Amino acid sequence: MKKSLIKKEYSKKIKLIQRYNKGYYDENNSEVSDADYDLLKKEIIEFEKKYNFLNKSNSPTAQVGYKPSKNFKKVLHRVPMLSLGNAFIENDLVNFEKKIKNFLSLDESSSISYTAEPKIDGISASLTYINGEFSKGLSRGDGKEGEDITSNLMTVKDIPKFINSKEFPQEIDIRGEVFIQNSDFQKLKDKFANPRNAASGSLRQKDPEQTKKIPLKFIAYTFGYEEGLLVNNQSDFLKKLTEWGFKTNPLNILSSGVKNLMKNYQEIEKKRADIDFDIDGIVYKVNDFALQKRLGNVANAPRWAIAHKFSSNKGISQILDIEIQVGRTGALTPVAKIKPINIGGVVVSNATLHNEDEINRKDIRVGDTAVIERAGDVIPHILSIDIKKRLKNSKKFTFPENCPSCGSKTIKEFNKITKKVDAVRRCSSEGYYCDKISIEKLKHFVSKEAFNIDGFGKKIVENFWKLKFIKYPQDIFKLDYSKIEKLDGWGQLSVKNLIYSINQKKNISLERLIYSLGIRHIGLENAKLLSKHFTSFSKFKNLSIQSDYEDLLNIDGIGETQLNSIKSFFSNKTNLKVLNELEKVLVVKNAIQNSDDGLLKNKTFLVTGKLNGISRAELKSLIEENSGKTVSSVSKKLNYLIIGDKPTKKKIDNAKQLKIDVIDQDEFMIMLNKSS
Ligand code: IVH
Repeated sequence: MKKSLIKKEYSKKIKLIQRYNKGYYDENNSEVSDADYDLLKKEIIEFEKKYNFLNKSNSPTAQVGYKPSKNFKKVLHRVPMLSLGNAFIENDLVNFEKKIKNFLSLDESSSISYTAEPKIDGISASLTYINGEFSKGLSRGDGKEGEDITSNLMTVKDIPKFINSKEFPQEIDIRGEVFIQNSDFQKLKDKFANPRNAASGSLRQKDPEQTKKIPLKFIAYTFGYEEGLLVNNQSDFLKKLTEWGFKTNPLNILSSGVKNLMKNYQEIEKKRADIDFDIDGIVYKVNDFALQKRLGNVANAPRWAIAHKFSSNKGISQILDIEIQVGRTGALTPVAKIKPINIGGVVVSNATLHNEDEINRKDIRVGDTAVIERAGDVIPHILSIDIKKRLKNSKKFTFPENCPSCGSKTIKEFNKITKKVDAVRRCSSEGYYCDKISIEKLKHFVSKEAFNIDGFGKKIVENFWKLKFIKYPQDIFKLDYSKIEKLDGWGQLSVKNLIYSINQKKNISLERLIYSLGIRHIGLENAKLLSKHFTSFSKFKNLSIQSDYEDLLNIDGIGETQLNSIKSFFSNKTNLKVLNELEKVLVVKNAIQNSDDGLLKNKTFLVTGKLNGISRAELKSLIEENSGKTVSSVSKKLNYLIIGDKPTKKKIDNAKQLKIDVIDQDEFMIMLNKSS
């Protein structure tokens, strides 16, 4: 085999194994069987042995984070590893204590001592010591049965291998949390989604040599089976643990009364960002072991302990820098680069600051400590700033007067309709003149609702832009594929796929094309309206020549704002050139003008259930093409309920009650003189 071919073949295998690893670790989805995975790994190792010219930096043998075996031996825990009930608000703690007092028939005014232990978000492990020697280590598994991961745990420095203390029980399972510090995680963050995944992935590695490379930590907090433990309460036990050579959480305290627990909770929550490991709450344990014993367990959680969780979507961290991003419409968005923090399982390192006004209103500065909120899939944002923590030398943030990408003046527009100055500052350049705007325009052009070119995502836009392969949308259709084929990570097959996806999208509907242009204020709906108005690409393009702009105001949905934006789009020569060039390479499907007296005139429809051979979106446009309308719920306004497979019964019942015609797909097609 030729050297280049060997390299190519090897790199293909590496890419495949990386994909499998990613699926397994980050997406929790294994796409190969263990046997196939192992075979692939073996092939890679054999390649490496045979051809020493290969660059092995990405080899699974050189890396942490390759697939752990699923074949660890299963071992029963002699004492099950319990889980904990959760508390979220003060009242949950009040109830927790009330139940304990009731159970123990204690007076309401009596006081119970609890340890309050910040709850580390890692992987729990149970370590068996016999005569002071660490002899077996199990993962939690399902609580009853764990996996024997002794050899991996042996590599963890914080786990004492021998304990030389007369007081140490002759036999005991010490339990605690294996985790990775945030600062250490920073070095591994490309391989794992969050610190917890990193800890779990490395602990379940087949090869302890790989585990050893990860700086895993261990903090001890409880015990399972024991013979000879001479301690009467949790706080003494925690003290003993440190005497025996274990690490314990430095933030553990002994406390009593819900009010005090709450105070500690709030203090720890504030400190959360400064702690170098992730905590997701505080564990309270009744301190006295005798009381614990009396209280016992409910199902698989003890009555004597509870986890007081932090609200999972907020976190506190420090703003390291404020960066200005330039968007597709020239809007300058300030983004806070924050000290990475795990919020609800996701590592957050950026938070949007929305706009200049927001920064001024909240007086947000570099170096500030901020509360960051992450809700759903939206970009995390800053809720508030802790002024008390403000650094002495901090300075008010000044928003740039010039675009950080192209240097053009930045402006705040006056909105004639609201009669207010816009909160958003924009780059005043004309679109493609500004590199940042240009890249963002291209990303929009290929995005899902626009051209939706398979395999042509944001990363590729950035990459091709850097390589000067694309600057304007039309360039996408004139790529020099021979150059792409030579790029790292590309091969004949992937280029073939790319050519196919691009060619496929050369046929495009007018509404998608209009939307893709990224004209400000022209979203999907407006693009649709415009396409129905113009019906053909040439008529749309000629708008600039005929300049009958005012006519557009007759379209229901297009107002002054949209009109001004369209005018400004067509007054830009580069945009006109883009349109001309696109016309040469694309086949734009004409839009069907809505006739007002189609077959479904004055009729409204609603679909329930799955349709056969036609998507809902397509059916909707079919209805609209025939002058009909779709509505979103069953009401008196509805004329026809179309039922597909597995319809919602309630909708049918409601429709029948309102004497609405219930029809199936075939009957609908007959209404259109079409049969499905
Ligand atoms: S005690 C019966 N103490 O939380 C008590 N658990 O949801 C159960 N955890 O599996 C364990 N810090 O992984 C205890 N100081 C602490 C803890 C702690 C973290 C984890 C542990 C356990 C889970 C229970």
